[in-house]
Amino acid sequence: MQLPPPRGPLSAWLNDRLTGGDNAQPAVPVRASDEPFADGDLQLALWVAYELQYRGFDGVDPDFQWDPEIIAFRARLERPWIDWLEAGFRVRPDDAPVAKQLRALIDADDGPRLAPYLRRHATREQFRDFILNRSVYQLKEADPHSFGIPRLDGAAKAALVEIEADEYGGGRHERMHSELFRTTMRWLGLDDSYGHYVPEVPAVTLAVSNVMSLFAVHRRWTGALLGHLAALEMTSTLPNRHYAAGAIRLGASEAEARYFTEHVEADAVHEQIAAHDLCGNYVEQYPHALPDVLFGARCSLAVDNLFAHQLLGTWKTRARRPRTAAV
Ligand SMILES: [Fe+2]
Ligand SMILES: [Fe+2]
Repeated sequence: MQLPPPRGPLSAWLNDRLTGGDNAQPAVPVRASDEPFADGDLQLALWVAYELQYRGFDGVDPDFQWDPEIIAFRARLERPWIDWLEAGFRVRPDDAPVAKQLRALIDADDGPRLAPYLRRHATREQFRDFILNRSVYQLKEADPHSFGIPRLDGAAKAALVEIEADEYGGGRHERMHSELFRTTMRWLGLDDSYGHYVPEVPAVTLAVSNVMSLFAVHRRWTGALLGHLAALEMTSTLPNRHYAAGAIRLGASEAEARYFTEHVEADAVHEQIAAHDLCGNYVEQYPHALPDVLFGARCSLAVDNLFAHQLLGTWKTRARRPRTAAV
C-alpha cells in the first residue's frame, strides 16, 4: 500500500522520515490530549508506525521497522494514548474466574445500538460506510492477535492457535475471514485492496486498529491482547446476526452476507475458547496478568463504542443536513 497522506505535523514527520526526507529535522513533540482517539494526526501517525510491523508501504525500506528514531517516536506517540486508556478503562479484578469477570464486563457495557440500526434502518449508503470503516481492521483480521502466539505456552497457546486457525480459514484461502469480508466489500462496490480507505476514515476508526496493535507489538501487553480478543469474540455473535439480516434486507446474496453468518456460528465457539481456554489458562499460569486481561477487554469495548458513536453521529448529522439542489 501507499503511505497515506499526513494529517498534521506528527504524521508528516513520520512520512518524511520514511521517504528519506530531511532526517536532520528533530521529531515534533507529542502533546497530551483529552481525546487521543479523536486526534487524526496522532492516530494516523500511530497507524503508520504500527504498519511497519505488518506489511509496510510501497517504496519504504523494510529496515525502517526497527529504525531507532521511529521506535522512539512511536513510544512518544503511544504515551498520551496509553495514559488515556489507563485512566479510563482500568478495572478492579475480583476473585471470580476470569471468564466470569469478562462476562460481567460485557454485560455491564451499554454501548450505542449500531448493530440493530444496521439490521433495521440503515440505507445501503450507510451500510457501505460501515463496511468501508471496518475494512481498515477486517482486511487484516486476526493479524494483531497472532502476535500473541509465540508469547504463550501450553493450553493457552493451543487455544489461541485454534481461534486463529478458524480466522485464517482453516487452511482454505477462500474461507479466511478477511477474504469473506472482501466479498462483502465488492457487493457494495468498495475497493478491497489492503489499506485503501485509511486516508479517508476518521481518527476513531484508526484507533480501533491502533489499540490492538499497541497490545500486539509489545510483549508487555500480552494479557491485554488476550483480553481484547476475548471481548471481540464474546460480543460478536449477536451483532453479526444483525449485520447479516441488514445485509440481506439490502439485497446481499448469501455469499455476500457470509462474512456475518460465518461469525454467528464461529464466534459462538470462539467466545468459549477465548474466555475459558485462552484467558482462563493464561491467568492460571500468570495470575498477576488478570488486571491486564480485563483492561484489554474493557479497552476493546470502549473503543468499539466510540467507533459506533461516531458512525451513528455522522449519519444523524447527514440526515439533518438539507439537500441542496444539483446544479
Ligand atoms: Fe473472524
Ligand atoms: Fe472469531
